[in-house]
Amino acid sequence: MAVQRNKTEDDITAEALERFAGTPDPRLRQIMLGLVKHLHAFVKEVELTEAEWFQAIEILTEAGRMCSDKRQEFILFSDTLGVSMVVDLISHRKPDGATESTVFGPFHRLGAPELPAGGNIAHLDKTGTPTLVSGRVLDLDGTPIKGALLDVWQTQSSGLYDSQDQSLGGELHMRGRFRTDSEGRYLIRTVLPVNYPIPSDGPVGQMLRAAGRHPWRPAHIHFVVSADGYEPVTTHIFDRTDEYLGSDAVFAVKDSLICDFARHESPEGDAMRLGVQPPYYTAAFDFHLKPAAEQEATVLDAQRRLAALGTRAAE
Ligand code: BEZ
Ligand code: FE
Repeated sequence: MAVQRNKTEDDITAEALERFAGTPDPRLRQIMLGLVKHLHAFVKEVELTEAEWFQAIEILTEAGRMCSDKRQEFILFSDTLGVSMVVDLISHRKPDGATESTVFGPFHRLGAPELPAGGNIAHLDKTGTPTLVSGRVLDLDGTPIKGALLDVWQTQSSGLYDSQDQSLGGELHMRGRFRTDSEGRYLIRTVLPVNYPIPSDGPVGQMLRAAGRHPWRPAHIHFVVSADGYEPVTTHIFDRTDEYLGSDAVFAVKDSLICDFARHESPEGDAMRLGVQPPYYTAAFDFHLKPAAEQEATVLDAQRRLAALGTRAAE
């Protein structure tokens, strides 16, 4: 058979699809065929020029250069393009009473200290307003889950994560792991979360500026809540009063994750016991976990691998 030399754009698309059609793994085949189909359609629709193609390569190269144990520019791209939340929503389609998930984000770090109930994750923060976050981890029937693990992280009151704050010299701060007691209860001492801009000193920032978009995220605290036999949930709680709830730079707000942070002018209960001085805030939030489905039990492992990728890059 004669080799066809004068190919059209559609000929190349058809040929590229054919080359992936024999991919042995059926799921990988589906993904690669979809990727080629949509990528080619996108390039043809916008009639991408060579200069634009090269600019895209430069942007991706720069994103790769910026990745380390302290920075994940590719997650930031995924988040700001809305892809992370589409993946999240596809993965958790059915409302089932479990706590809703949201983006993992690029600032999780491995090795946060395990702290006792009431432990202070904000021990170096001198300017934030003290805050106690408490609640329970329960199954879908409302039965308390003892020994559940809450991996918590948050910015300092400056709006910076520890890994962005040069003055900390790499020290972990605003992070902790807490275990629930026999009644499923947890108690975290921190400072009031603040809204903050996502990092915009790299290609993601350039994209946001070029698009006339703001980089702000509403005030939140991150959690990964896990327990043996249950599906882990990666989520945040958001401050109900925040001005950016409706325009989060990464599209991650869900109504069920919005929480009241109540201000107190005199010490009571846990605050009194822990010596927290007024004014301080309290927030109450219960997490509901669903039984682990075999297929989904690897989400936490995938996130550990992702977090470890950055650590490897920094070696
Ligand atoms: C964060 O909340 O830490 C975050 C999430 C997505 C992108 C940037 C930051
Ligand atoms: Fe965050």
